[in-house]
Amino acid sequence: MTFTNIIQNNARPGHYECTVIENRALSRRYYLLVLSRPREMTNPEPGTFVHLLVPDANRFYLRRPFSVLDCDDETISLLIVEKGEGTRIMRRIEKGRPIDIVGPLGSTFPKVPGKRVLALGGGVGLAPLYYYGVRREAKDCETYRLLYGARSREDLFVDGFDWALDGVSFSTDDGSHGFQGNIVEFAQHEFEQSQVDVIFSCGPNPMLKAAAEFADRVGVPHYVSLENRMACALGACRSCVVLTRNGAIRYRTVCNDGPVFDARELVWKELPQA
Ligand SMILES: Cc1cc2nc3c(=O)[nH]c(=O)nc-3n(C[C@H](O)[C@H](O)[C@H](O)COP(=O)(O)OP(=O)(O)OC[C@H]3O[C@@H](n4cnc5c(N)ncnc54)[C@H](O)[C@@H]3O)c2cc1C
Ligand code: FES
Repeated sequence: MTFTNIIQNNARPGHYECTVIENRALSRRYYLLVLSRPREMTNPEPGTFVHLLVPDANRFYLRRPFSVLDCDDETISLLIVEKGEGTRIMRRIEKGRPIDIVGPLGSTFPKVPGKRVLALGGGVGLAPLYYYGVRREAKDCETYRLLYGARSREDLFVDGFDWALDGVSFSTDDGSHGFQGNIVEFAQHEFEQSQVDVIFSCGPNPMLKAAAEFADRVGVPHYVSLENRMACALGACRSCVVLTRNGAIRYRTVCNDGPVFDARELVWKELPQA
């Protein structure tokens, strides 16, 4: 079973100036950035991302990619973890400040009506899977179970976030909240409880690789969203390529052909595991 023919994003990307509506800490390292949604912006599909210009153009001429966490007629929300200088600066951007974005960009998680989906979100990899869950796509599924894993309770921000989705379960590596163990161990546990037709995952590469091995073992189709470093995000510079074997072995861009791929097409040993 494959759904690859329906993961292309049909929305036309645009270049917009938004305004910061809210910028709120969710935990020590995670924050929620809510931007005004430009009226002309096409509806972002789950899995797509925006390419955001950190508002200090002298130091940050390369944009930073962030998945859409949620979107309505007025706003577009992003879930961000502080990683380096850019995400540290963005954490301090005040309400009312302008933000320059390009989007929505990239491929989408497939629509799988009538299927039982198990979605695995590690860290900020939660964003596209949460968005899938709150959108119509998940309502067409027979079931949509979202597992959200982090190192400890502090990174899960269970309390500080207004969850608009039922069926989210948590795991922590240290057992401080929810299932004790990593998210793939949690997936194995859930798989033994009820049937699964397709797996979605997004998170750090080692987690995705383990999820791909698990999906292969249990014989379930698996779609992953990659978070490679990017420069242009337009398919031109080829700084984000990954090796795939879709018929022939060839390099494909994460920004334009991805970020969502059929996990069986990826050459996992070539993906950085740091
Ligand atoms: C399609 C896509 C969707 C993404 N969605 C989100 C999201 O929803 N929320 C979120 O917080 N982040 C997301 N990311 C990752 C995010 O883009 C990076 O964390 C961010 O660009 C880092 O910027 P910085 O200036 O803070 O860090 P930099 O100063 O550029 O780097 C600091 C450190 O982070 C590492 N780093 C930078 N980019 C990445 C990356 N892409 N993956 C792993 N390590 C990286 C660097 O190697 C370095 O060690 C996404 C990436 C992609 C490609
Ligand atoms: S970032 Fe330039 S091709 Fe993907």
